[in-house]
Amino acid sequence: MRNTLRQIKIGNTEINGAAALAPMAGCSDLPFRELCRSFGASYTVTEMVSAKGFVMGDRKSEELMRLGENEHPAAIQIFGSEPLYMAKAAEKALKFSPDIIDINMGCPATKIIKGSSGSALMKDPALAGRIVKEVVSAVNIPVTVKIRAGWDKNNINAVEFAKVLEQNGAAAICVHGRTKDQMYAPPVNLDIIRDVKMSVSIPVIGNGDIETPLDAKKMLDYTGCDLVMIGRGALGKPWLFKLINDYLEKGVIAEEPSIEERMEIMLFHIKRLCEHKGEYIGMLEARKHAAWYTKSLRGAAAYRRELSALKSFEELKAISERIIKEQKELI
Ligand SMILES: Cc1cc2nc3c(=O)[nH]c(=O)nc-3n(C[C@H](O)[C@H](O)[C@H](O)COP(=O)(O)O)c2cc1C
Repeated sequence: MRNTLRQIKIGNTEINGAAALAPMAGCSDLPFRELCRSFGASYTVTEMVSAKGFVMGDRKSEELMRLGENEHPAAIQIFGSEPLYMAKAAEKALKFSPDIIDINMGCPATKIIKGSSGSALMKDPALAGRIVKEVVSAVNIPVTVKIRAGWDKNNINAVEFAKVLEQNGAAAICVHGRTKDQMYAPPVNLDIIRDVKMSVSIPVIGNGDIETPLDAKKMLDYTGCDLVMIGRGALGKPWLFKLINDYLEKGVIAEEPSIEERMEIMLFHIKRLCEHKGEYIGMLEARKHAAWYTKSLRGAAAYRRELSALKSFEELKAISERIIKEQKELI
């Protein structure tokens, strides 16, 4: 089974490797994206940014859009429901040199769908098509869209919806195989990803519940999608991209990192986070990341409680040394 690193082209942007990092607001910031990249993620997307907020000059949006030096190809993701604001935001975002503009049409959060953005657009294909058309005509880079299977189980319209997006100039579609009503509950519908792939001629990215190299291969094989996108499976486990690439290339499941390596990766990640956002914010955000890094360890619940009060990087260093010692004693 030799399945060498896939190369796909979205418009004229080349992506080498089948596993991409999904956009995750509050998680997939620049330090995390760069870390995943160093483990072989072939493509990354920023956290979603409000098109209107960005156009109106919101400083936080600018921060979210900044890409890493070694983070190409990468997309900036925008959300909104007004075609002209979306087009203006995409054009203004070009100053951050993205390779792709991605449009969020999958977010199920109440705050987002109340504004007719995110997955609410799946109920209005005509408006979604207009948004894509305006954004495509505003920028000279590929425009992609991230969608869900549909609004609810009685309205699974990803196939027809994807066709509308393609007709309006979308260069690729990412399908998260769940309805908006499902939020993040299982199961992921691989059939709908396969059906979209069979119905459009632009690349299709499959997404949902990939936790292991076998899950990634299953999605690629079953749906025929061009690329898989991994979200929660990479939290506290950025090396998952390497495991997936190794498996797709050589057919072997490589070993998980040792406890020492795991803690080293965690410290590296949190150090970058503190450099990027300052130690105060960095350590607040480190609490959740550290809990993910220790999730599968024996005694994880006690570690999580302790890590939820983290205040300084030095404290995290001391805890990680103790974790290594305790985990080795358990062997
Ligand atoms: C905390 C969190 C934040 C997310 N933020 C975004 C976002 O900003 N834009 C987006 O398109 N999807 C977002 N998603 C959805 C993910 O990109 C992905 O579609 C979903 O988690 C399913 O993939 P997974 O099972 O690999 O996690 C988010 C998901 C999570 C869990």
